[in-house]
Amino acid sequence: MDTARLQRSFTTVAAHGDELPLYFYSHLFLTHPETRPMFPPAMGGQRDRFVRALIEIVGKVHQVQAVVPYLQQLGRDHRKYGVTAGHYPVVGASLLATLEHFLADDWTPEVASDWAAAYDLVAKVMTNAAAEAEETAPAFWDAEVVGHERRGPGIAVVTVRTDQRLPYVPGQSVSVQSPLASRMWRYLSPANAPRTDNTLEFHVRAVDGGWVSPALVHATAKGDVLRLGPAVGNGLTLDEPSDADLLLLAGGTGLAPLRAIIEQLDGRRQRRNVDLYVGARTEDELYDLPALRQLQDRNRWLTVIPVVQRGFSPGLAIGEPARVAVGHRHWRGAEVYVCGSGEMVSTSLEVLATAGIDPQTVRRESYTYNGHAGSPVDLPQEARA
Ligand SMILES: Cc1cc2nc3c(=O)[nH]c(=O)nc-3n(C[C@H](O)[C@H](O)[C@H](O)COP(=O)(O)OP(=O)(O)OC[C@H]3O[C@@H](n4cnc5c(N)ncnc54)[C@H](O)[C@@H]3O)c2cc1C
Ligand code: HEM
Repeated sequence: MDTARLQRSFTTVAAHGDELPLYFYSHLFLTHPETRPMFPPAMGGQRDRFVRALIEIVGKVHQVQAVVPYLQQLGRDHRKYGVTAGHYPVVGASLLATLEHFLADDWTPEVASDWAAAYDLVAKVMTNAAAEAEETAPAFWDAEVVGHERRGPGIAVVTVRTDQRLPYVPGQSVSVQSPLASRMWRYLSPANAPRTDNTLEFHVRAVDGGWVSPALVHATAKGDVLRLGPAVGNGLTLDEPSDADLLLLAGGTGLAPLRAIIEQLDGRRQRRNVDLYVGARTEDELYDLPALRQLQDRNRWLTVIPVVQRGFSPGLAIGEPARVAVGHRHWRGAEVYVCGSGEMVSTSLEVLATAGIDPQTVRRESYTYNGHAGSPVDLPQEARA
């Protein structure tokens, strides 16, 4: 396989943007209509992650070593869509047909064989990981809603109990599907450390014009059954053991994984200080302060600092969590975790950089949605060209 030739054709094809998924899906659904029900009813080029990711991953196969753990996770995760090993050649054929269409005269037998070999390699990593997971874990977990509490405008705390233990580490996320928005999976971060009763608490903000989050906040009740996928991500998981101080910056429901991390440390004696700056637009969006105060009361190492963007209330800092934090003290040497909207995360990184904290060292997660600009794949840094 000539990886330089493959990359050149990747660059040519990637320039076609939203036309790629449209062609790919038309080809897939015409040749294999049985795959249509695996995908969400409403699909559009802009919102697609799958096809762009597929082309990006396969086209950058020369970095495959760097993305093996990601591909293994992706393969395990694909079981929740009902994907089996037999689907891979089918998708591979539609991928090659799409590339042939857009590369036109550049689609030589050599280029065709490069792409076929690259796809097979990626598919093999994914199918092997899926086969291994088959032995130990279900494809998805059914989770009954056992608590639903509206807190503040457009925010709900949804507690579910899974039918079997769903293994995860604080800071990870799981994908969630509601019966009200069929086949649409969205990531949510458990706000608690794993519990023996198999309950998970989700903090959900209803996004304007969104499909899944308004359903979870406004139309979900106790007794409903959600479907959860396996836990993913290591961007926010804690590196232990460490004595370095922890600075946690949360924006809105970006609090959830950071609270799970605090729960992971709850009750432990430790030398380091943990400072949580929890940001919200207004005071009534500070939806979880009582639980945070309880954690603070139990743990001398924890300080919770609520921050609002606007308004005035005694005891509340005003501004962005990162700006308030760097105004309080120097954080050099601290481990910094940031979670919130894409905008909140990028502002935080800029502010931290001006305070001498290298953005590369900051652990972060952005609550982006499908269709958000940027890389469709959470490829590790070294694999981004
Ligand atoms: C790792 C991770 C963890 C997350 N954890 C949480 C969490 O704990 N809590 C939480 O509240 N959220 C979390 N999120 C965000 C969550 O996954 C969803 O993205 C969010 O809830 C919106 O989903 P939705 O289905 O309601 O909106 P979507 O239907 O995905 O729409 C989102 C927005 O996109 C707009 N939109 C729709 N179609 C298009 C289009 N074609 N082009 C452009 N824009 C369009 C909509 O108007 C809306 O404003 C997390 C995200 C990630 C990536
Ligand atoms: C090399 C092989 C493949 C790669 C690299 C790949 C990659 C991806 C990625 C990155 C996503 C987005 C996941 C997310 O949002 O978390 C995705 C979604 C999806 N993939 Fe794959 N995939 C592959 C093979 C397949 C196959 C064989 C099928 C079977 C038909 C399939 C069906 C799906 C479905 C149904 C979704 C969800 C789409 C949506 O929600 O809009 N994938 N894939």
